[in-house]
Amino acid sequence: DWTMDNLIDESVDHIREQVGDKRVLVALSGGVDSSVAAALVHRAIGSQLTAMFVDHGLLRKGESDAVMENLGRQLGIDVVRVDASERFLGKLRGVSEPEKKRKIIGEEFIRVFEAESTRLGPFDFLVQGTLYTDIVESGTKTAATIKSHHNVGGLPEDIEFEIIEPLKELFKDEVRRLGEQLGLPSDLVWRQPFPGPGLAIRVLGDITQEKLAIVRDSDYILRDEVAKAGLDREIWQYFTVLTGNQTVGVMGDERTYAHTLAIRAVVSQEGMTADFARIPWEVLARISTRIVNEVNGINRVVYDITSKPPATIEWE
Ligand code: XMP
Repeated sequence: DWTMDNLIDESVDHIREQVGDKRVLVALSGGVDSSVAAALVHRAIGSQLTAMFVDHGLLRKGESDAVMENLGRQLGIDVVRVDASERFLGKLRGVSEPEKKRKIIGEEFIRVFEAESTRLGPFDFLVQGTLYTDIVESGTKTAATIKSHHNVGGLPEDIEFEIIEPLKELFKDEVRRLGEQLGLPSDLVWRQPFPGPGLAIRVLGDITQEKLAIVRDSDYILRDEVAKAGLDREIWQYFTVLTGNQTVGVMGDERTYAHTLAIRAVVSQEGMTADFARIPWEVLARISTRIVNEVNGINRVVYDITSKPPATIEWE
């Protein structure tokens, strides 16, 4: 890809010039933007880059290991994984209000980031995976905040680093192509959007390890079946939600009283509006059967058929 090669060459020159022999930090979220930004900066300055990956314990199944495999092992980036899951879960214990969850996660992320960057540093530069649309959107934000968005990776306002934003002139599809060109695997590059607070806002009400495990395991089955049906690039987001309701069911000769799990799948352009995805019945049937059979604690699966508005994409 000729134009992508050019873009890479130009960015690499620019980053080298800007950084000189100084040290650079990047915070990885597991998502596309921070991963591509890290890969690009690593191409330019190699071991002068340190990547910090704060694992808040709220990612999907396999994602935390995938960060270490794809960016650490395959690309050779120096990734420091900070396992902060106990710490985040501790702070979230007993909290059921959605905005409070977001606030706790955002604040805790900043605390961990500050402590770890001091321990690993000093650093002169910080890489941010800001895209062109992020800049445009923050200039035209509407006054009404429906949900406060905590992008994990959103950082303290008074940071003493110089900022490097190597993706700030690119659109999402260009970032994806750039990522592929830099050697990131396509399941990372084409990853569906995932909220910073992660699975915390997909367990309605208070969060426990057991509930997280249910969401994680059912989400994994959903992703597997959506991919097998070839729908993974058509559907904007698809995930499971633990509703906090228990209902009566029957399994064998036994009465059960267990969780209701919801499936949310939407088509959308940029997430501002959305419609529920018309997943074929047989695919939904397979997903439901597998979830009830393979995930402990679920005896009922429902499909969310609301658009946004009036609903939102996430349930919290
Ligand atoms: P809603 O639920 O508001 O979501 O329709 C729109 C898009 O934003 C994502 N989302 C978040 N992303 N931090 C994020 O980084 C958040 O707190 C957050 N809340 C929602 C959601 O997944 C969807 O893509």
